Amino acid sequence: MKIILVCTTCSDSQDRVTTLILVLSLLPALVLTCSDLSEFNVLDYGAVGDGMANDTLAFVEAWNRTCNAESEDASMVVPEGMTFLVYPVAFVGPCNPTYITFLLSGTIIAPDNPEAWKGRNLGQWLTFQDVNGLGVSGPGKIDGRGQGWWDISCKRHPQSPGCGKLAPTVLSFTECNQFSISNILIVNSPQTHILVTGCNNVMIDSLSIKSPETSPNTDGIHISHSTGVFVSNTDIGSGDDCVSIGDYTSHIDITNVNCGPGHGVSIGSLGRSGNEVRVENINVNRVNFNKTSNGVRIKTWQVGRGHVRRVVFKNINFTDVKNPIIINQNYHDVKNARKRMKTGVEISHVRYSGTFGTSKTEVAINLDCSQAVPCTNILLDTVELESSSPGKRVISFCNNAYGNATGVVKPNSCLLKQF
Ligand SMILES: *[C@@H]1O[C@H](CO)[C@@H](O)[C@H](O)[C@H]1NC(C)=O
Ligand SMILES: *[C@@H]1O[C@H](CO)[C@@H](O)[C@H](O)[C@H]1NC(C)=O
Ligand SMILES: *[C@@H]1O[C@H](CO)[C@@H](O)[C@H](O)[C@H]1NC(C)=O
Ligand SMILES: *[C@@H]1O[C@H](CO)[C@@H](O)[C@H](O)[C@H]1NC(C)=O
Ligand SMILES: *[C@@H]1O[C@H](CO)[C@@H](O)[C@H](O)[C@H]1NC(C)=O
Repeated sequence: MKIILVCTTCSDSQDRVTTLILVLSLLPALVLTCSDLSEFNVLDYGAVGDGMANDTLAFVEAWNRTCNAESEDASMVVPEGMTFLVYPVAFVGPCNPTYITFLLSGTIIAPDNPEAWKGRNLGQWLTFQDVNGLGVSGPGKIDGRGQGWWDISCKRHPQSPGCGKLAPTVLSFTECNQFSISNILIVNSPQTHILVTGCNNVMIDSLSIKSPETSPNTDGIHISHSTGVFVSNTDIGSGDDCVSIGDYTSHIDITNVNCGPGHGVSIGSLGRSGNEVRVENINVNRVNFNKTSNGVRIKTWQVGRGHVRRVVFKNINFTDVKNPIIINQNYHDVKNARKRMKTGVEISHVRYSGTFGTSKTEVAINLDCSQAVPCTNILLDTVELESSSPGKRVISFCNNAYGNATGVVKPNSCLLKQF
C-alpha cells in the first residue's frame, strides 16, 4: 500500500512547479522530494533576454518572489546565453530567506542613453539594499554602457552648462551585511563600478572590471562606512581609482589584485567636509600596478580631522607608475593657508613592506604631510624603486613625515627620525 501526498503549503509560495511529494510506503523508508525548491528564474516572470525588450519588470517580480520565499535559501536566476536590458532598479530587503543567491549566468545591460534616468536617482543603476546574507555569483557579465554618460560628463566638458557631475554606479550595495560577489565581468560603468557602503563582512572575489582609461570617475570599487571587506583575485582597469577606501572604514583587505590602467589604490580622499575621519586596519597585499597614475596613495583634506592608522602595503609591484608611493595630507590646499591651517587628518603607523618596480616620474616616494598634524610611525621596509626610463634617477620627498627605514630602501629614505 502507498500513500502519496502533495504538500500544498510548499507550492503556495512559488509559481514554479514545486511539488513536495511524500511517499509513504509500508516499508519504514520515508522519501521527501522537492524539485527546484525556491529558484526564481527571470524567464518565468516575462523576461525576454534579447537585449532589446524591457526586462525590468521581470527582474522586479523575480526578486519579489525570491525575497519573499518561505524557505531557508532562495535563488534568483538570470540564465546564460541571453542578454537582459534592465532599467534602474533596486533589489530591496530585508528578505525572508536567511540566504539569497543572485545567480548571474547571462548578461545584464543598461539602457544606453542617460535619458532613461529622467526623474530617477542618477547615481544608481542596480542596487541591493538592506539584504543580509546575499551571494551574487557568476559567471556572467554586466555592461553599464557608459559612453552616453562619459560624453556629457563635467570632467570632460567643464564649460558645458548641461554637463553631468553624477552618473550611475553599476552595482551599489547599501546596508548589506554578509554578502559576497564573485566571478563576474563588469564593464563600461557610467561612473563607479561597485559601491559598498554601510556593509559589514563582505567578500569580493574573482571579478574583472574594465572601462577605458579615459572614462571619467569610473572607480573600480569604492568602499565607505564598512567593516570587514575582503577584495581578492580581481583585475581592475578603469579611468579612476582601482579601489578607493572612504571614511569610516576598518579591516579592509585588498589581496591579489592587478590594477591598471587607472589611478591606483587610494585611501581617500578623506575629511573633505571637515568631518572626523576614522579609517584603520587596512591591508593591501600582493597588488600589481601597471602604468597607473598612482600606486598606493593616502590623500586627506586639510580641513579634515580624525585619523588614518595601521595601514600595511606589502608585496607591491609597480610597472611604470607615476607616483608609486604617495601620501598627500595637504590635498586640495585651502589657498595660501597651507602653513596656517591647524587641522588635518592624523596619519600614523603606515608600513610599506616589500615594494618593487619602476617609477615614471623622478619622485618615486612622496610623503607630503601637514605641519599641523605630521605623519608619524611611517615604516619603509625593503622598498626598491627605480626609474622606468633607463639611466634616470629617482628620489624620495618628505614633508613633516616621521618614521624609520629598514632593509634596502631605494631611493634613500627621507623620513625624519621619530622623536
Ligand atoms: C521599463 O520598465 C520599467 C519597469 O516597468 C519602467 O519603469 C521603465 O520606464 C520602462 N522603460 C521603458 C523605456 O519603457
Ligand atoms: C510582491 O508580491 C506580493 C505578493 O506576493 C505583492 O503583493 C506585491 O505587490 C509585490 N511587490 C512588488 C514590488 O511587485
Ligand atoms: C612582482 O614581481 C616579481 C618579479 O617580477 C615577481 O616575482 C612577483 O611575483 C611579483 N609580485 C606579485 C605580487 O605579483
Ligand atoms: C602592463 O600592461 C601592458 C599592456 O598595457 C602589458 O603588455 C604588460 O604585459 C603589462 N605588464 C605587466 C608587468 O603586467
Ligand atoms: C623606529 O625606531 C625606534 C627606535 O629604534 C622605535 O622605537 C620605533 O618604534 C620605530 N618606529 C617604527 C615605525 O618602526
